[in-house]
Amino acid sequence: MKTTRVTTTDKPVDSFETDLLVYLATQGKDKAPQSDKAVMAQVNKAFDLGDFKGKEGEQLFYYPSASGKKKQPRAKRVLVLGLGKIESEKDGAMVCDTLREAGGHLAKACEKIRARGIIICLPTLDTLGPEHTAECIAEGVLLGDYRFTKYKQVTRKKTDYAGLAAIKFACTVSVKSVRKGVMQGRIAAQAACAARDMAHEPGNGWTSADFAGFAKALAKTCGLNYRCIEKKEMEMMGMGGILAVNQGSVIPPRMVILEYQPEKKSETLLLVGKGVTFDSGGISLKPGTGMEEMKYDMCGGAAVLAAMQAVGEEKPNLGVVAIIPATDNMPSGSAVKPGDIIHHFNKVTAEIINTDAEGRMILADALAYGIKTYKPDCVVDVATLTGAIILGLGHHYSGLISNNDTLALCLESAGKLAGEPMWRLPLDKNYKKQIESKVADIKNIGGKAGGAITAAAYLSNFVGKTPWAHLDIAGTAWDFTEKTYIPKGPSGIGVRTFLTLIRNWKTGKLK
Ligand code: BES
Ligand code: MN
Ligand code: ZN
Repeated sequence: MKTTRVTTTDKPVDSFETDLLVYLATQGKDKAPQSDKAVMAQVNKAFDLGDFKGKEGEQLFYYPSASGKKKQPRAKRVLVLGLGKIESEKDGAMVCDTLREAGGHLAKACEKIRARGIIICLPTLDTLGPEHTAECIAEGVLLGDYRFTKYKQVTRKKTDYAGLAAIKFACTVSVKSVRKGVMQGRIAAQAACAARDMAHEPGNGWTSADFAGFAKALAKTCGLNYRCIEKKEMEMMGMGGILAVNQGSVIPPRMVILEYQPEKKSETLLLVGKGVTFDSGGISLKPGTGMEEMKYDMCGGAAVLAAMQAVGEEKPNLGVVAIIPATDNMPSGSAVKPGDIIHHFNKVTAEIINTDAEGRMILADALAYGIKTYKPDCVVDVATLTGAIILGLGHHYSGLISNNDTLALCLESAGKLAGEPMWRLPLDKNYKKQIESKVADIKNIGGKAGGAITAAAYLSNFVGKTPWAHLDIAGTAWDFTEKTYIPKGPSGIGVRTFLTLIRNWKTGKLK
């Protein structure tokens, strides 16, 4: 992944040369949009001509000349970007997302003119303080500037734009808070982009070993604790779920673990992410059309690993442990079969009706093991778990299922703030009944009805009384709602929600 140099300054913007100097303008009611006084003459002129109203995404370019008498900015171009009627917006989360979208618009504009270095003059808003304003714009522009070109060798042209190399944020006041906001936005965006990078990799480019390798390297750079449970240990510990899913594969499974504990004693959050690096369905083979998309079946694992990258940088006052059960799901003579019965880590037995319902099988062992080992205060799992969630919620909301109302509310609000909304679904005994087996404790599918919920019902057998929430991101991990800062392909969903949850964590709130 390329890294963009991100800096903050309170020096006058004229002190720097740049490809593009950016101002943001808010739309008013029948009056000229409001922006920095340095550009208001131009904005007024364009408004009077009817060329620029400051609508969301609207762009006004001009080209300052050095010859004029008045001091002109030392920028090749100036862009005034419209924010729309942001100042009358009461919903803070909406304001944040509009600013991220502005960042996305900006990244697109830069690609068009091939700008490599830009300066963004931060607007002063009534609806949001300087720290969060800076954070959201920084996040949006870095998320929007994402591209994955690793495997484009022959068709990539020399003239291809490589993205932004340097972004400078300019402010006149509160430089300390702005710097902090910019840093938070940068950390969140870079983590989400790391998750996108992992997800972009095909099944032969990202295996369980790559999850382990990334985690190990991260542990080294950030001072986290790294562990990896290999196949032999899984056999000794009786992790029959992940072993069964891996049975048809030639690549060994891995349970990758990263631990972060702050110096001060604190509560612990356990994150568990589904890391199926390719899901063929196994013996219950999927149809061929679109099967290539199942390389994205590791997006949950990518999200928790990338979240740890941000945790490692930020060192919050909350313990965070990430577990990624990683394997592919393949058919073969040795593969697990419909009718087989497996023993999970916590001794619960399960009848496998459909080998394509593999996510819950690997998550079950990871949840039971993680809760027993780390005794977390709460646990959140995230997985591209069911096609059913796409039927229910489409590509705009992730599914949320939880045994704890407070945790569910915290996640919902974190998701909203991050622009990654989720919708809660119920889980009661009637859904659990659907997965009762005649021959084992449970079975791995519960019929067509309520498929996203019966999948969660399966998981509920492995969390005991620990506050737990499950996020089904099958509809949002890729093909997510179109936004300027969300590219086509993997979205990196979950990363920024987790980070928001961690940043806003209050000790004792689940007690
Ligand atoms: N990885 C899939 C779920 C999925 C489907 C994610 C489509 C994204 C897009 C999961 O392992 C799966 O195959 N689920 C089955 C469960 C069924 C057999 C009960 C499904 O949803 O069809
Ligand atoms: Mn499957
Ligand atoms: Zn799957």
